[in-house]
Amino acid sequence: MSETLLRTEGLTVVFGGLVALSGLDLEIRRGEIVGLIGPNGAGKTTAFNAITGVVQPSSGRIFLGEEDITARPAPKIAAKGIARTFQQIRLYDDLTVIENVMVAGHSSVRYTFLEAVTGLGRFSADEKRISEYAEYLLELMGLSDVISAKASALPYGRQRKLEIARALALRPTVLLLDEPVAGMNPMETKGFADLLRRLHRELNLTIGLIDHDMGFVMNVCHKIKVIDHGVPIAWGTPNEIRTDQKVIAAYLGTAA
Ligand SMILES: Nc1ncnc2c1ncn2[C@@H]1O[C@H](COP(=O)(O)OP(=O)(O)O)[C@@H](O)[C@H]1O
Ligand SMILES: [Mg+2]
Repeated sequence: MSETLLRTEGLTVVFGGLVALSGLDLEIRRGEIVGLIGPNGAGKTTAFNAITGVVQPSSGRIFLGEEDITARPAPKIAAKGIARTFQQIRLYDDLTVIENVMVAGHSSVRYTFLEAVTGLGRFSADEKRISEYAEYLLELMGLSDVISAKASALPYGRQRKLEIARALALRPTVLLLDEPVAGMNPMETKGFADLLRRLHRELNLTIGLIDHDMGFVMNVCHKIKVIDHGVPIAWGTPNEIRTDQKVIAAYLGTAA
């Protein structure tokens, strides 16, 4: 069995008086695709925010391999190899598609964004490598035909793919996706599942995935953690989760 790559122990986040996440133990092994699911407001995004340094955990620990990365600043965590996308898409609307990816690629090398866009300074030796990798990622994500379009001109589903290309430009070992198929129709969602499997294989990625589309999660994930009102209620394979009484109750309870 492969080693544990990302692990949380008793991860808890309290906002004011609200316990958004309570005692999350999550384990993602190298090469796995792990889903984090649960009804709206369950604490899924909060879990990713705590892991990636966007919010401070109130208690609990986060490990990347053997290293304790709890409450490290977000850029440090990204530099250690955990990249993510956001539930609300965050792109540079006025930059082109390839520029959006290249900006992310530049953040891992020495020169500044200003040097990069002006073509001055230390810029240029790495430039070709970064642009070629950006082109490769865009091809992988099926965006080759729009590399010179403004990011804001893309339809929603393709903006989500661009966000993933940006995250991949950091060359992460772990990719965390927050509701990547939200707003996609069933056809697009199915296509996205195939794409995710290809990314996983081709880039040797370990993936954590939030979604509330049960069919999609069951289809792509090796293991699934279910949380409800901040509290972990189940952990298992898609088959185990599908028949878990607590999970069924949590979902039926919110469907009405
Ligand atoms: N920054 C924040 N400040 C205060 N409350 C928050 C914040 N982020 C999330 N919450 C609250 O924490 C709970 C869990 O939210 P969230 O993690 O976004 O749920 P999910 O992603 O599972 O839908 C919700 O009640 C939400 O309103
Ligand atoms: Mg969320």
